[in-house]
Amino acid sequence: MTAAKKLFVKTYGCQMNVYDSERMAEAFGGQGYAATDTPEDADMILLNTCHIREKAAEKVYSELGRYKRLKAENPGLRIGVAGCVAQAEGEEIMRRQPMVDLVVGPQAYHRLPDLIARVNAGEKALDTDFPPEDKFEHLKARPKARRGPAAFLTVQEGCDKFCAFCVVPYTRGAEASRPVDRLLSEARDLVGRGVREITLLGQNVNAYHGAGPDGDWSLARLIRAMARIDGLERIRFTTSHPNDMSDDLIAAHGDCAKLMPYLHLPVQSGSDRILKRMNRGHTADAYLRLIERIRAARPDILLSGDFIVGFPEETEEDFQATMDLIAEVRYGQAFSFRYSARPGTPAAERAMVDEAEAADRLQRLQALITRQQRDIQGQMVGRDVSVMFEKPGRLPGQMAGKSEYLHAVHVAAAGIGPGDIRRVRIVESGANSLTGRLAG
Ligand code: SAH
Ligand code: SF4
Ligand code: F3S
Repeated sequence: MTAAKKLFVKTYGCQMNVYDSERMAEAFGGQGYAATDTPEDADMILLNTCHIREKAAEKVYSELGRYKRLKAENPGLRIGVAGCVAQAEGEEIMRRQPMVDLVVGPQAYHRLPDLIARVNAGEKALDTDFPPEDKFEHLKARPKARRGPAAFLTVQEGCDKFCAFCVVPYTRGAEASRPVDRLLSEARDLVGRGVREITLLGQNVNAYHGAGPDGDWSLARLIRAMARIDGLERIRFTTSHPNDMSDDLIAAHGDCAKLMPYLHLPVQSGSDRILKRMNRGHTADAYLRLIERIRAARPDILLSGDFIVGFPEETEEDFQATMDLIAEVRYGQAFSFRYSARPGTPAAERAMVDEAEAADRLQRLQALITRQQRDIQGQMVGRDVSVMFEKPGRLPGQMAGKSEYLHAVHVAAAGIGPGDIRRVRIVESGANSLTGRLAG
């Protein structure tokens, strides 16, 4: 038997890309490729890319530049670009980097076996179609290997919201939900392989409306059905849109014990004028009232958000409205970005905010959210939380895991292994993580 060919995958962007990279590695596995961690050993290098901001997209070209030497040394090396840059830029990638052999968009991954064969026959292959069939049904069945205790599972993909700044509706296509039976069997399979926590993924995961045995199911119904899987201990979901936060999903946060008290609910801005220009479809006040309802159902829920500063025509007053909203919500975690004009989106046509001004606003906003994060993390000291351990911790003899609130927790824990869930008393709050000791 000839030695297996080697595949090196580098993943950028969101969790959905992490999930897709696993699926693509399986498809390559079916074509005789084994994974490697070093690009120097690889017969195929695959970049799974992100197009969300200019910096993310440019990273891909500088990474490709680095592989020039490898390709010169090993002419048999094949280079592929997948993900959202592949979808958005297609042929332009091969024009800018002629050494690229394969360009494949997120909705064409199930065609990889054919594309890989063509590339290995010395052809260039490009597929950025949006075919009507469900790609996950056609991707190779999973190998039955054991895996870590936490896993992602894509349940919904694409977006029909068309926020004025965002490329996702163009790169991932229209909103589509996977059928319930397939998701439950994939979840059971993951649990059979050692998984105890599943994060359900979607660009608008709470818009999930997959075909069930008796009509379309909501995300809340899917979560409740997953919660009945023995051995699955924790369920999370991300990313949600405020307008799809239905009553049954809010209720699930109150009464479904396996649904973790953490919610990523981006609002982007606290100014109604900017929200309108962003085409977000709701006001700041509607968001705040929604947060109140969620907290009424689950008072200890930890909220997380995304913010864009320097959106075209954002004034200091608009920015202050965002700061006020943040002060009111109190986020346990938040991600913030300077607005990046993306080709083809409506906002890209509008006047940019002065660069230095935008940078200054971002700094002020990040200082506020860092303070909030630290405060909320600090308030965990003295409390008992439940930690699912995943890997060795910072210090020898320590294990690290995540609390139900998604805080990283380090514990000196002899005899504890990945996947174990224990009560932990938090004793110290550091810069980015908590330290605790086993409780009781
Ligand atoms: N589906 C998610 C967001 C996906 S993109 C949602 O609806 O919230 C992740 C985050 O990237 C967004 O929440 C937004 O804060 C940021 N983002 C998206 N486009 C951007 C752009 N053009 N410039 C800066 N940040 C952007
Ligand atoms: Fe992008 Fe808006 Fe869709 Fe989120 S809801 S993916 S920000 S268009
Ligand atoms: Fe990036 Fe595409 Fe995800 S643009 S954030 S990889 S959906």
